[in-house]
Amino acid sequence: MAPRTKFISESREETIKFGKHFSSELRPGDVVAFYGNLGSGKTTLIRGICAGLDVNEVVTSPTFTLINEYHGKFPVYHFDFYRLSSEMELHDLGVEEYFNGDGICLIEWPEGVHDLLPESHIEIHLTARFEPGWENKREIKVLAGQK
Ligand SMILES: Nc1ncnc2c1ncn2[C@@H]1O[C@H](COP(=O)(O)OP(=O)(O)OP(=O)(O)O)[C@@H](O)[C@H]1O
Ligand SMILES: [Mg+2]
Repeated sequence: MAPRTKFISESREETIKFGKHFSSELRPGDVVAFYGNLGSGKTTLIRGICAGLDVNEVVTSPTFTLINEYHGKFPVYHFDFYRLSSEMELHDLGVEEYFNGDGICLIEWPEGVHDLLPESHIEIHLTARFEPGWENKREIKVLAGQK
């Protein structure tokens, strides 16, 4: 599917700004899956989105807890499944209730939960290139989620 948006961010600050703008498209119940390697800017972009949603709490990757909850314009659930070790953990967390609930779900490393994502969701792909001149650049693509 053709990307709805393809953007080259030239800096961390620009990624935050993109996130703030993008957040205005989000509504309660939306699920956004963030794909991209270590350091590609997933958490940075989520910080921008959370700022746009009037979240005042500190936004950090919930690496060990798997989920952080923030209180903005809407409830925001920030997941990071990088260290997901078992299906059981997902079950214990009750991820499906979050994914099908009324908050906004922002999911880093969604590969392990792909089957549980709702039919209708948004994918954001971040790419860092290891090329001269790309140290502070990131490609950001927004697509309708594929199941
Ligand atoms: N254009 C840019 N957009 C976002 N981050 C950038 C950019 N240029 C440089 N950076 C730097 O890249 C790093 C991105 O880190 P971030 O934690 O957001 O990545 P991540 O994809 O969440 O990584 P992880 O998989 O470890 O959770 C930060 O150190 C940030 O300052
Ligand atoms: Mg991260």
